[in-house]
Amino acid sequence: MDAAVDAVIVIDDRGTVIAFNRSAERLFGYAAAEIVGRNVHELMPEPYRGTHNDYLARYAESGVPHIIGIGREVQALRKDGTVFPAFLSVGEIAGSEPRRFVGLLRDITVERQAMAMLQAERDRAQAEHAAAEEARRLQERMTHVSRMVTLGEMVAGIAHELNQPLSAISTYARACERFLSSPQPDLEETMSALREIAQEAMRAGGIIRRLRQIVKSRAAEQTRVDLNALIDDVAVLIEADTRAHQTSLHLELAPNLPRITGDPAQLQHMIVNLARNAIEALEQQPPGSRELTLRTSRCGEAEVELAVCDNGPGVAPDMIDRLFMPFATTKAEGTGLGLSISQTIARSHGGTLSYHPANGGGACFVVRLPARERFE
Ligand SMILES: Nc1ncnc2c1ncn2[C@@H]1O[C@H](COP(=O)(O)OP(=O)(O)OP(=O)(O)O)[C@@H](O)[C@H]1O
Ligand SMILES: [Mg+2]
Repeated sequence: MDAAVDAVIVIDDRGTVIAFNRSAERLFGYAAAEIVGRNVHELMPEPYRGTHNDYLARYAESGVPHIIGIGREVQALRKDGTVFPAFLSVGEIAGSEPRRFVGLLRDITVERQAMAMLQAERDRAQAEHAAAEEARRLQERMTHVSRMVTLGEMVAGIAHELNQPLSAISTYARACERFLSSPQPDLEETMSALREIAQEAMRAGGIIRRLRQIVKSRAAEQTRVDLNALIDDVAVLIEADTRAHQTSLHLELAPNLPRITGDPAQLQHMIVNLARNAIEALEQQPPGSRELTLRTSRCGEAEVELAVCDNGPGVAPDMIDRLFMPFATTKAEGTGLGLSISQTIARSHGGTLSYHPANGGGACFVVRLPARERFE
């Protein structure tokens, strides 16, 4: 018994300690001579201590083992009053009369501590994950709100853009009516007017499709995209916006741009944001001289660049340091989210967004994106 690593305690059917090995002495701080003859419940803290005798009595009557042969975690009490967690397994000594039980006890303080540390680590990781998830959701919401605000600002131009095909359709329809109500209807002319109607309806449909594409909030996508094609696709909206603000739009798209990898809707949102800012800044210029340029170029082997430049007043000096901070705005109706979200989008594509004052006044916002094919 003294060679056992675990504490070994033998008791009789009333709970009196009969044997107490060396490991038990070490673990509990009692000499065997001190504890032999006393009740084993003295080695237990309350509430176990008060119930142990009943427990033994019940076992004697029913013979139903609550612990025997199974083993379980218990709390144990040292001589100095300290309590420690232990793993206890109990067996009945076969054929003993009166019955005797042997308990094997192992201190599991270290295991408990390790488990508590593990649990704490797991809780921390979980909390971190939840916080990151919450931040992602917030960012998504904010992007969506900003997108709605931007589109709200563009509504005048878009309404005008939709109005054009609609009024063309109504003009052609009235012409058809006229052609067909004449005694000798000109079918050729009627056909041609109908074709125009179909074309104008397609044009209006195209504008609405692009609008929905930008408005839709959906999970980020990763595809290979051509920056020029993305610009072409939103150009109709930006054009409408510039026309409504007496601004001339110049698209200078470099041919043969390498493709980039990213989310088309997010990138278009960024482009529209930058164009919108320029159009707003240009309101301070007289109508005849407002110029907005979107220029793409290849930038070394590994990057493509988009510059959105205007000949407005440039960024106000007191704005420059906080330009990309959320809620930094000089506009009465601005949210100050546009540039902050655009920068987040550029960065999440592995790129950058920066401000450069244009030569001769005006602002230039430059987006650089890696051209590498990330999937290859
Ligand atoms: N092209 C630009 N020329 C001059 N100032 C600019 C230009 N673009 C941005 N700014 C300045 O940067 C500020 C922040 O722009 P940002 O797009 O983040 O917010 P906002 O345009 O004010 O608000 P929102 O985008 O919600 O309409 C603007 O308020 C403006 O002062
Ligand atoms: Mg803005």
